[in-house]
Amino acid sequence: MDIAVMRRLPRPAMDRLDQAGTVRVWPLDRDLTDEELLTEALEAEVLVTVLGNRIDARVLAARPKLRLVANFAVGVNNIDLDAARSRGVIVTNTPGVLTEATADLAMALLLASARRLVEGDRLVRRTGRAPWAPEFHLGFDLTGKVLGIFGLGRIGAAVARRAAPFGLRTIYHNRRPAPALEAELGARYASFETLLSESDFLSINAPLTEETRHCFGRPEFQAMKETAIIINTGRGPIINESDLAEALETGLIAGAGLDVYEFEPRVAPRLLNLENVVLAPHIGSATREVRNRMGHLVADNVIAFTQGRRPPNQVV
Ligand code: GLV
Repeated sequence: MDIAVMRRLPRPAMDRLDQAGTVRVWPLDRDLTDEELLTEALEAEVLVTVLGNRIDARVLAARPKLRLVANFAVGVNNIDLDAARSRGVIVTNTPGVLTEATADLAMALLLASARRLVEGDRLVRRTGRAPWAPEFHLGFDLTGKVLGIFGLGRIGAAVARRAAPFGLRTIYHNRRPAPALEAELGARYASFETLLSESDFLSINAPLTEETRHCFGRPEFQAMKETAIIINTGRGPIINESDLAEALETGLIAGAGLDVYEFEPRVAPRLLNLENVVLAPHIGSATREVRNRMGHLVADNVIAFTQGRRPPNQVV
C-alpha cells in the first residue's frame, strides 16, 4: 500500500510505517501549500498529515485513491470531515498522549503571564540589570483567584488539576455541564457570561468548530476583568486576533499567553509589539516523549488500516 507522509515523523514511527507499505515522504522541510496538495503527485491510499496541511473537499476530490488521512495531531480542524465522510475516507487523530504536555504548557503560559516572566527576561537581557524595588515589575497572585476553563475536556481537566495546588478555583463553560468532572475537580459550571465576568485567568481548551470560531472578540474582552489574562493552547481562530491585540493595547484585559494563532504560521504583527503577551510557537505537544507517542499512534492507525482492521483512533 502507498503511504504519503507530509512531514517526516520521529524515527520509531517512520520505521513502523516503512514496514506497513511503500512510504514516500514530502522532501521539503515545510508544509505543502494548498496548491501543492492539489497538484503534487501524491497518489496514495494513505496520507499522513500535519496541522499545516489543509485537506479540504477539493483535495479529497483530486485524490480518488485516498482511503485514510492519518493526522499527526489530536485536532482535526485542518480536515474537512464532512467531505471525508461522504467520500468514505477514514480520518484518524492522536488523542490522549498530548493531554498532560498541553496542560503543562497552559500552566507555563499562565505563570509566565501572571508574573511577566518573558517581559522580565527581555528587560534583564537588554539592560544587564535586575533592579529590585518595592513596586518594580509587579504581576498577579494565583492563590485565591478564579481560573475559567473554556472547554473542559481531557486537556481542560488536566489544566484544572494543575491549577488546584496553586490555589486557583476553577469554573468552566462547556456546551453541556460535566458533573462527573465537576465532582473530581471541584470545578463549577458557569454560563459563558459568568465565565467572562468572573475569570481572573481564562484558559481556552476547546476544539475549533464552527461554534467556537471567534468566540472571543471585542464584546467578550469588554465583558472580562481589566486584570484578566487569557491563555490559548487550543486553536488560534477561537480568538479574533485583531480584537485581542486591541484589547491588550487599550487595557481591556491585562495580558495573554498564546501558543496558537488565528493565521498560523503567521502571528499578527500588532501582537509582536506588545509587552503584555507571551508568544509560544505552537509547542503544546512538543516534548520528545509526546511526539514519539503521537508518531506511534499514527503508525497504529495506519497499520490497523493496512491490515483491514478499524484504526484505534478513527474520528470519521
Ligand atoms: C496540536 O495542536 C494537536 O492538535 O495535536
